[in-house]
Amino acid sequence: MLKLLVTGGAGFIGSHFIRYILERYPEARVANLDKLTYAGNLENLSGLERDPRHTFIQGDICDADAAAPPLDGGVDAVINFAAESHVDRSILESGEFIRTNVVGTHNLLELCRRKKVRRYLQISTDEVYGSLGDGNAFTEDTPLAPNSPYAASKASADLLVRSYFRTHGFPAIITRCSNNYGPNQFPEKLIPLFISNAMNAMPLPVYGDGLYVRDWIHVRDHCAAIDAVLRNGKAGEVYNIGARQEYPNLEVARRILKELGRDESLIAFVEDRPGHDRRYAIDPAKMEGRLGWRPRIAFEDGLRETIDWYRSNPEWVAHVRSGEYLTYYDRMYEDRGRTLSDR
Ligand code: NAD
Ligand code: TYD
Repeated sequence: MLKLLVTGGAGFIGSHFIRYILERYPEARVANLDKLTYAGNLENLSGLERDPRHTFIQGDICDADAAAPPLDGGVDAVINFAAESHVDRSILESGEFIRTNVVGTHNLLELCRRKKVRRYLQISTDEVYGSLGDGNAFTEDTPLAPNSPYAASKASADLLVRSYFRTHGFPAIITRCSNNYGPNQFPEKLIPLFISNAMNAMPLPVYGDGLYVRDWIHVRDHCAAIDAVLRNGKAGEVYNIGARQEYPNLEVARRILKELGRDESLIAFVEDRPGHDRRYAIDPAKMEGRLGWRPRIAFEDGLRETIDWYRSNPEWVAHVRSGEYLTYYDRMYEDRGRTLSDR
């Protein structure tokens, strides 16, 4: 029986990963340690509240007392998704990025090493490689050159992971994925922000000239890639994950407006992001060649499905925008007289 500890499992990618694992491995058991920051949303896990295979623990990866108990019974692997994840927030205030992404990762590594965890996956990002010009793509050998405080905090965590492998022989693996999209993404990131603004006939704020390029992958393809690394990845290695689907932001904005039947006059060019990386692109040849993984979801189809999801889930968006989702757990468990702090 597969036993996993997932951190950050109430966020966008972590919650999809938990669903993916429980669907693919019906016998699996997943402990989910999440601090429930503004980005942690238990509504992302709706339907699993009463599933005995999933245990939610509210806790901070920086806190050894919170992170150690889920490891006590022994786990097959730890997958660290927990992070502050939004570049714009890291520009305004970077302290939490250093705390969670660097200090939190160090705390987890130390705990897992002591508990002799046999497999540890660090969910990193292509942003650690910095910005690309035209033509080439990031490989696992591209030097780290992070440009935002977010990217620098993720690169710092990656270096710690590397050092634990080299120094302690700790069986850690790093994955670096390109930009994810899909249902349940917090509407501060480009695609869900533009979808929800377009739905409400609000302006779509395009930074700078809008010709910044991102390489988009559907979140379920990312989850399948993480599963492939979990099963067959080699300790000490880095795996780049991407789906070869590059689009300028302006093109993404236009597609969303077209799909929602809105006019392009909603596009609003706004001041650029400081230190804005011009282009990201992943070369996923190692994932494809060594682990036999392939992305399956074409951007056209995934974007349409994502738009449909946001259209069909107005309560999710309304709760997120009003902050009401933060009380979801208490509402779910009211009938049983329990609150989050009782867990
Ligand atoms: P997210 O912001 O949606 O979710 C992050 C989750 O981590 C939230 O549930 C939050 O409550 C939790 N968290 C934050 N600080 C914590 C702490 N100190 N202790 C415990 N939990 C904490 O992020 P996401 O988009 O799902 O990204 C997940 C991971 O994947 C991150 O590590 C991110 O760097 C990486 N990543 C994201 C993308 C992307 O496009 N979103 C791409 C590549 C890699
Ligand atoms: P984002 O979703 O924040 O992801 P990242 O910065 O991690 O790649 O942004 C994706 C791209 O969209 C990036 O080039 C910045 C741009 N962007 C806008 O033009 N307007 C916006 O309102 C946002 C949030 C992003």
